[in-house]
Amino acid sequence: MLVDRYGRVATDLRVSLTDRCNLRCTYCMPENGLAWLPGPDVLTDDEVVRLVRIAVERLGINEVRFTGGEPLLRRGLVDIVAACAALEPRPDLSLTTNAVGLARIAAALAAAGLDRVNGSLDTLRADRFEQLTRRKRLDDVLAGLAAADAAGLSPVKVNAVLMRDVNDDEAVDLLGWALGNGYELRFIEQMPLDAQHGWDRARMVTAGDILAALQRHYHLTPEASDHRGSAPAERWLVDGGPARVGIIASVTRPFCGTCDRTRLTADGQVRTCLFAREESDLRGAMRAGASDDELAQRWTTAMAGKAAGHGIDDPGFLQPDRPMSAIGG
Ligand code: 5AD
Ligand code: SF4
Repeated sequence: MLVDRYGRVATDLRVSLTDRCNLRCTYCMPENGLAWLPGPDVLTDDEVVRLVRIAVERLGINEVRFTGGEPLLRRGLVDIVAACAALEPRPDLSLTTNAVGLARIAAALAAAGLDRVNGSLDTLRADRFEQLTRRKRLDDVLAGLAAADAAGLSPVKVNAVLMRDVNDDEAVDLLGWALGNGYELRFIEQMPLDAQHGWDRARMVTAGDILAALQRHYHLTPEASDHRGSAPAERWLVDGGPARVGIIASVTRPFCGTCDRTRLTADGQVRTCLFAREESDLRGAMRAGASDDELAQRWTTAMAGKAAGHGIDDPGFLQPDRPMSAIGG
């Protein structure tokens, strides 16, 4: 098992398959992108599958989520999913994607064994989408989410980040749209993870702000708290349910105490937290010939050093050197 010194057990593995992306969301990447990881540093498909296998067979991981950058840009994605679906015990498999191009591949992913999809969408207005992501791809995204739903990759969850004076007037519209399509919407508080270091706590749209906006149009009742477990989203039933809306209040209501995650970057580094300042290199060890046992041992040691929390509120808080796009959501 992966246990840290506070007794938290990691059962949920996030695997970043690439740091590249075909969008340029302003809260994530600069207009011209970033210096991508050099190709040889990125794990091969076999290396990814080997590390996931070790995590599942030896370390108690039962949930694997593929992220990016944008994981659909990874050529071997369908094969990686299929190989992970063949592991014993079979982990739950999901994908966090911006949904651009998902329409073309959703059915193949489902056939390979993918269970669910989380799409990202911050606005329903084409002009705003272009302003926010610097690309004209709103229709692609909508088609991608619909295709995922049609392929049975459901319930489709949609992540939305609201920014003040950019799209903070869309909370109600986004929820109405999600309810109409049978998607589960989750708002995520913006976190200080952008490459440009543009995050400003004073301007952040908080969970409280979002809840207040939604409550002007919907009757929200908190879902029984025992449902939250280690899931970061706090959920509310909308107008009595069964439809729900979630808010992930990473900043104003951190859930680090129940965190059950461990992360693997596209270049084979274990991160114990989105905000970790240290990483443990599995790629180097693997390429130097380390055995499964040795790799599992390194992962266990890394987990033991997991920090108690993200420390965003500490006076000495420093953003991680890696931007979000190279860590994975
Ligand atoms: N804060 C909060 N969410 C973010 N995402 C990307 N960057 C940030 C940030 N700084 C979201 C994306 C996507 C998920 C992977 O994380 O919108 O939904
Ligand atoms: Fe790409 Fe996601 Fe970053 Fe947007 S938030 S630029 S979709 S990695």
